[in-house]
Amino acid sequence: MSDLRRTAPAVARNRDPILDLLPDILPPSGTVLEVASGTGEHAVHFARGLPHLDWQPSDPDADARASIAAWREAESVPNLLAPLEIDAAAPDWPVSHADAVVCINMIHISPWAATEGLMAAAGRLLPADAPLVLYGPYRREGHAIEPSNAAFDEDLKRRNPAWGLRLLEDVARRAEAQGLTLERVVEMPANNLTVVFRKR
Ligand SMILES: C[S@@+](CC[C@H](N)C(=O)[O-])C[C@H]1O[C@@H](n2cnc3c(N)ncnc32)[C@H](O)[C@@H]1O
Repeated sequence: MSDLRRTAPAVARNRDPILDLLPDILPPSGTVLEVASGTGEHAVHFARGLPHLDWQPSDPDADARASIAAWREAESVPNLLAPLEIDAAAPDWPVSHADAVVCINMIHISPWAATEGLMAAAGRLLPADAPLVLYGPYRREGHAIEPSNAAFDEDLKRRNPAWGLRLLEDVARRAEAQGLTLERVVEMPANNLTVVFRKR
């Protein structure tokens, strides 16, 4: 049987800086729903690094889910659950509860409807005080865009006019409307941000 595991080079660079932050942000127990898990490498790494939490990966793409499932089988991490098919833009998700939601590098590489859906679902699924954690590149009011992010933004828009780096303030307004308060913005390597919202 062919090996369906995929790798994304950025994961090796960002997974430890992200994991370093997570224990202070995530709850002491429960299920973390990861949206847009991609290859599944983050899911394996975070589930292994946070054995007190159940890690629920998901992706709308069948090849991504096959990769996540293949990593899960190869690595045998007991608290890593089987991947779910979740399109963030869909009005209904196949889950009714999560104790935290994590979404890495999706918001700029999907139509804005995916961000709207993500915020609506986080508002619906999370209990009070539960976090929504985002990671990726953003534009910010009052900050000049970094040259590498400007080039990335142009490249994304060339590939799909509905993609592109979002204004953090627009994302925060969308979150606010769903009962999620912006708690923390952490500058990360390579001009990325970790953005933490907390359900009121
Ligand atoms: C750049 S990859 C990031 C994957 C992974 N989080 C990472 O950082 O390596 C973007 C991912 O977003 C997923 N995606 C795109 N549109 C989506 C949507 N509407 N809902 C959920 N995921 C989506 C893609 O299938 C892909 O796996």
